[in-house]
Amino acid sequence: MIWESDTKLVLDGAVVELDWTEGGLARLCGPDRFVLQKTREMVSYYASLAGSRCQRVLEAGILRGGSVVLLDQLLQPQHLVAFDLSPQRLPDLDAYLLHRGAAERVRLHFGVDQSDTRTLRRLILAEFGQEPLDLVIDDASHLLPETRATFNTVFPHLRPGGLYVIEDWGWAHWPGTWQDQGGPWARHPSLTQLVLELVMTSASRPDVVTDVLVRRDIVTVTRGPAVLPEGFDISRSYLTAGRRFAEEPRRDHGSRFPLPQVLRRAQWVWRHEGARGIARRVAKRLGL
Ligand SMILES: C[S@@+](CC[C@H](N)C(=O)[O-])C[C@H]1O[C@@H](n2cnc3c(N)ncnc32)[C@H](O)[C@@H]1O
Repeated sequence: MIWESDTKLVLDGAVVELDWTEGGLARLCGPDRFVLQKTREMVSYYASLAGSRCQRVLEAGILRGGSVVLLDQLLQPQHLVAFDLSPQRLPDLDAYLLHRGAAERVRLHFGVDQSDTRTLRRLILAEFGQEPLDLVIDDASHLLPETRATFNTVFPHLRPGGLYVIEDWGWAHWPGTWQDQGGPWARHPSLTQLVLELVMTSASRPDVVTDVLVRRDIVTVTRGPAVLPEGFDISRSYLTAGRRFAEEPRRDHGSRFPLPQVLRRAQWVWRHEGARGIARRVAKRLGL
């Protein structure tokens, strides 16, 4: 891995740029050019896993493929599977994998919702069979119900000692626009609730969660040796001596219809998934 600048990496001839700007995806992506939505500290974290036992890896949230390239190059896994809600394949990423003879080893699934637990179970079985996972990275919706659903479904498939990483858990605590009127996700419960549950589980059931490492950008959960049944639910895995640690819903003083949030969400979907994404979500909301 060669850093050409603070935000530009070269990995086996492919350029990977760290970028979050509106136009970055269109401007910086192309054949052997990928955008990565991670900080340099996150890249260092994944680099620190190189050489450890990360042979079977699952990632939620592909975007434009920068993280697939990064994980493949840094960890050289036997089998890397990534999925995304977006239904569109990424021809540049397909070409990258094809040219490096990695298309069998690195498998991409599109149109998979991380909260669709049946599809997730099927995907894991089809890709990994009974082999346990070494590393799972959730960099998809960053929303509580979806992230929790993925965790409950996938965590039991990790081997004891395997790592489950949730990125960007702290959005409810980020400064700036994330605090203006509750931020773009004001109507959503924070991911902090799940992080607290993981910490509580590590105290109550170290055989389930051996260790939780909380950093400002990621939380890493180490799986314990307990056999976890299908239907595993993290929110039933800790003890509280009768105390409640649930998040209070935000009190809103403004209009009941969250127009600014809806517009911001629509803008985000438009940018990432286009008109088809908007149509799909409206149809789902209307129950069509
Ligand atoms: C932050 S981006 C991923 C960035 C990428 N991992 C990287 O480091 O460059 C989040 C991705 O998650 C996807 N996503 C959002 N909600 C999802 C869901 N419910 N299920 C699966 N993927 C989802 C989006 O389409 C988007 O591509």
